[in-house]
Amino acid sequence: MTATPASEATLNEPYGLRGLDLPNRAVLAPMTRISAHGDGRATDRMRDYYRSFAEGGFGLLVTEGIYPDAEYSQGYLDQPGLATPEHVESWVPVTAAVHEHGASIIAQLMHAGPQGQGNPHVSGLRSASAVRARGEQAGMYRGTGPYELPEALSAEEIGEVTSSFAAAAVRARDAGFDGVEIHGANGYLVDAFLTDYLNKRTDGYGGSPMARTRVAREIIEAVRAAVGNDFVVGIRISQGKVSDATHRWSGGVAEAETIFGALAGAPVDYLHTTEWKANAPAFPDKDARSLSQLAREFAPGLTIIANGHLDTGAEAALSLGEGGADLVAIGKAALAQHDWPRRVQQGRQLLEPLAPSAFGDLATIQDWELRAAEPVPTS
Ligand SMILES: Cc1cc2nc3c(=O)[nH]c(=O)nc-3n(C[C@H](O)[C@H](O)[C@H](O)COP(=O)(O)O)c2cc1C
Repeated sequence: MTATPASEATLNEPYGLRGLDLPNRAVLAPMTRISAHGDGRATDRMRDYYRSFAEGGFGLLVTEGIYPDAEYSQGYLDQPGLATPEHVESWVPVTAAVHEHGASIIAQLMHAGPQGQGNPHVSGLRSASAVRARGEQAGMYRGTGPYELPEALSAEEIGEVTSSFAAAAVRARDAGFDGVEIHGANGYLVDAFLTDYLNKRTDGYGGSPMARTRVAREIIEAVRAAVGNDFVVGIRISQGKVSDATHRWSGGVAEAETIFGALAGAPVDYLHTTEWKANAPAFPDKDARSLSQLAREFAPGLTIIANGHLDTGAEAALSLGEGGADLVAIGKAALAQHDWPRRVQQGRQLLEPLAPSAFGDLATIQDWELRAAEPVPTS
């Protein structure tokens, strides 16, 4: 067994995030698993699943996207919710199991917007404007064919959505979560507002890049006002979308400056940037900086979490160093080994990422258990 290289040792350094004392810099990335009860309650299997990452050494877990209301926010059948008292009760064993192992857990609050493909509460979709999401529904979440054409939210309905995020954040706190992450990435509702081709509004919520950040800012403000100052509030931001993976902001670095600068002025603790490769340039033809480096530069006071193929200790260390990140979020590599932080810490060999066919639901937990039982070769 080899020791952790010096640069990778940064991963093991503690970090203070508002009131949370995180034991290290490794964060579990949010990953939808469509494994809740049909009515959105978390299951025992989900409890065991999240506990296994805490046992495996992740200091902070961000949950899969959770819908905040019993209206248009749910995106996938068997997605968990934080919309009712029953949902709150069902999450209590999950947060307790994670805390027992010394980790913290943040609920990712997600409104599906134009990328909804399974919602038992209502039919139809709501978005910034009546513009269909590009591409096709996600097969791994049981969708087929093009997305539905959404209806534009009225200004009054935007207010209701904002309030629903705030109410769900309070429920998250009641369920024992240590914070909430507003899903502002990947083409869902908040990102639809941020995106030029999905937001055609002329009412102060669209037009300039700054106006497109208004919904994100208002949701952050409402959430912060509802939960007070002793609760972590973060936001996740991306260029790419589930329905348009290669999208880049047309305004380049200037648009990044507007978005990150606007969010830095809101009462939020962290910015979680996600890219296909976190350490690659965000606008390769024009600028060498990665999205996390731009976030560090334009939102200097915020904690930066970077995500995207930080599969090895070396990539993660690079992101924590030059990449400007304070924390690194690990997705697919964590599914392949729920003890990714321990393996990196101990210099043990890492396993190959799982095939995408294993991503849909929690069937992968069994896969992980089988793999974990195998003798692990040392590097
Ligand atoms: C199965 C699966 C489900 C995902 N679900 C979500 C989600 O609910 N919310 C979110 O923000 N990102 C989601 N993502 C994106 C991941 O958080 C992460 O950004 C992506 O996998 C890239 O990071 P990685 O290269 O470390 O895997 C999901 C990814 C996968 C593979």
